[in-house]
Amino acid sequence: LPDPDVAAPTDEDVADLLPRPGAESDKYRRGVVGIAAGSDRYTGAAVLAVGGAVRAGAGMVRFVSSAEPVRLVRARWPEAVTTIIADPLGADPIEEVGRVQAWVLGPGLGTGAEAHAVARAVLSAQVPVLVDADGLTLIARDRGLLRRDGPTLITPHAGELSRLLGVPRERIEARRLEHVRRAAAELGVTVLLKGSTTLVAEEDRPVRVNTTGTPWLATGGTGDVLAGIAGALLAGGLSCYDAASGAAYVHGLAARLAVRGDPAGRGDPAGRGDPAGRGDAAGR
Ligand code: APR
Ligand code: MG
Repeated sequence: LPDPDVAAPTDEDVADLLPRPGAESDKYRRGVVGIAAGSDRYTGAAVLAVGGAVRAGAGMVRFVSSAEPVRLVRARWPEAVTTIIADPLGADPIEEVGRVQAWVLGPGLGTGAEAHAVARAVLSAQVPVLVDADGLTLIARDRGLLRRDGPTLITPHAGELSRLLGVPRERIEARRLEHVRRAAAELGVTVLLKGSTTLVAEEDRPVRVNTTGTPWLATGGTGDVLAGIAGALLAGGLSCYDAASGAAYVHGLAARLAVRGDPAGRGDPAGRGDPAGRGDAAGR
């Protein structure tokens, strides 16, 4: 029997919720997303998250970090507006960033005192905040960071959720539905749990299941892109619940398009795609 507490949005459902620019759109109405990510040690995650947000149609991407990730983001995504954090431990490390409508916090950020200070500043904003990767490690250590005014979306894989809940990873993987619901209830946030299927939970809403992905997504960096996509949708005005499920859908479908011509989802080891052009765009 179908479980009434689980929903699988259709293509049409997702098409309806994704924002589209209208004749009167401007970059502010489309949404300014702030991305606080990267560190001198981990630069790539920041470049990928910014790329996800740019390509998902953010009106503007503001990127804030230390000097090296900023240099690399500028080189790869010239449309991003960047700020180097002058004093991470100062009164307000993100003071100079300017107005944003939603934040993405965490990919490659690091987990030291400076990262914690940046996380605290971002989470004190009243706009929606997506917390991923190192941001999740920081909130697992300091749950107080989640006591905030705005909506919060967290995007853990099973290992990250394991640290947040203090439950072994194997138990989470064996009962993903139960644990994603439990996390949403205990932490009072929207939860997107990654894996071969993606689950999105929020209290008093059915858990949304996304199956558009492909095992080809199981490679380092794809999660950072997902964070950027979801951040763009949040900045565009979607709720955490809709931004999470819309982003999972688009991310999975984009991956399938990238490996199209491979109906079994095995991909083409030579990376030739679909030379005869027979592939089904949905990758089925
Ligand atoms: N089928 C479909 N989708 C998958 C599959 C699969 N078998 N495996 C992973 N995915 C998707 C997930 O749903 C998610 O969208 O790929 C993405 C992976 O995201 P992350 O797990 O966040 O991985 P990422 O951050 O890109 O990789 C580096 O590895 O060891 C960890 O903590 C480390 O965060 C770091 C991460
Ligand atoms: Mg990740």
